[in-house]
Amino acid sequence: MKIIGLLLLGLILGLAVMAAAGYFYISFGYAPVSTAAPPFPFEKKITSMALNARIKKEAPSQAALQVTDDNLLGGAQTYSKYCAVCHGLVDQPQTEISKGMFPKPPQLFSGHGVSDDPVGETYWKIENGIRLTGMPAFRQSLSETQIWQATLLLANPEKLPAAAKTILSSPAP
Ligand code: HEC
Repeated sequence: MKIIGLLLLGLILGLAVMAAAGYFYISFGYAPVSTAAPPFPFEKKITSMALNARIKKEAPSQAALQVTDDNLLGGAQTYSKYCAVCHGLVDQPQTEISKGMFPKPPQLFSGHGVSDDPVGETYWKIENGIRLTGMPAFRQSLSETQIWQATLLLANPEKLPAAAKTILSSPAP
């Protein structure tokens, strides 16, 4: 009985010390809060675990639109207007805005594309955004068709019609 009491006391004290350490870490200004700060230990791991679990639950399993030239062109128009400022264009320098962000927005047309991701996952990210990253949710501002077109564009960078390529390689306004 006595042993259990001691163990319990130890456990409570341990928890109190941990809570106090967490409190002082934050209240004395050690937690990384600026976008320029290096990532928190395990930050990427924890956030991507939460995100992936949620996406697995909610993402549509297949695309609602076909991969056609019209849809890819529509995707390029949406992308250049709403996404390029953060995710970059083809053969254009990265914008000053995107350089200052944390986490960094992947430059989707220069080696960091999402053509390997399931389309439902990309659709989910555009529709819902990714909290605390700067990636906006577009569900209020774009139609489902526009979101699917942008998704198909990112999934099929090798199938772009010439008109879409022209839009994606024109410097941002
Ligand atoms: C204000 C900046 C900003 C804008 C505008 C923006 N994004 Fe993002 N986006 C981000 C950031 C930052 C991330 C990285 C999030 C992370 O690290 O989890 C991201 C992530 C993504 C991802 C996931 C990439 C991956 O590797 O898994 C996709 C897909 C995406 N964005 C598509 C879009 C599309 C399409 C648009 C336009 C309709 C758009 N984004 C507009 C900032 C932006």
